[in-house]
Amino acid sequence: MKNNRLLILLLIVSSFQIACGDPYAGFNIDVRKNAKLVSIGKDVYSKNCVTCHKAKGAGDPNWRKRDKEGFLRAPPLNGDAHTWHHSAKWLIKTIRDGSVADAKGIKGKMPAWKNSLSDQQVIAVVAYIQSLWSEEIFQRWLKIDARG
Ligand code: HEC
Repeated sequence: MKNNRLLILLLIVSSFQIACGDPYAGFNIDVRKNAKLVSIGKDVYSKNCVTCHKAKGAGDPNWRKRDKEGFLRAPPLNGDAHTWHHSAKWLIKTIRDGSVADAKGIKGKMPAWKNSLSDQQVIAVVAYIQSLWSEEIFQRWLKIDARG
């Protein structure tokens, strides 16, 4: 009985921590379940991202290899590659600012979207991307995101 009460208390405390937190909170609470946001994001995706990242975020089939000019190709966003290894903050920044060269100076041609998409559209497209992830990937991502 006592143990049960402790468990319930822990659950309340941890859901409270998820609800509060950093400025992107309200974002990392399960946005995938916000159907309206996901549908705005799906629309943004089909108008701006699908040419490179392909249907349902499947990515360029050769994304592991660089193109003829030595640029990175568009990776899958659907949970098959590394996208879920990044915090919401990083994903939002990458979409807003575009490609950033890695430590070896290698980059892709991901355009910057900050002048053509609103903050809400960027958040919505991240929600859409997350709606493509499995439950397991999303749960693992939540822990990564909590580290900032
Ligand atoms: C012209 C092709 C192109 C378009 C259009 C494009 N991307 Fe990209 N995107 C890329 C490439 C190439 C990369 C990987 C290389 C890099 O980051 O420098 C990338 C990387 C990303 C990443 C980081 C993925 C990771 O796992 O590191 C995200 C997130 C992303 N794109 C989201 C979007 C969204 C959202 C849109 C539409 C609003 C979009 N992209 C439109 C080419 C594109």
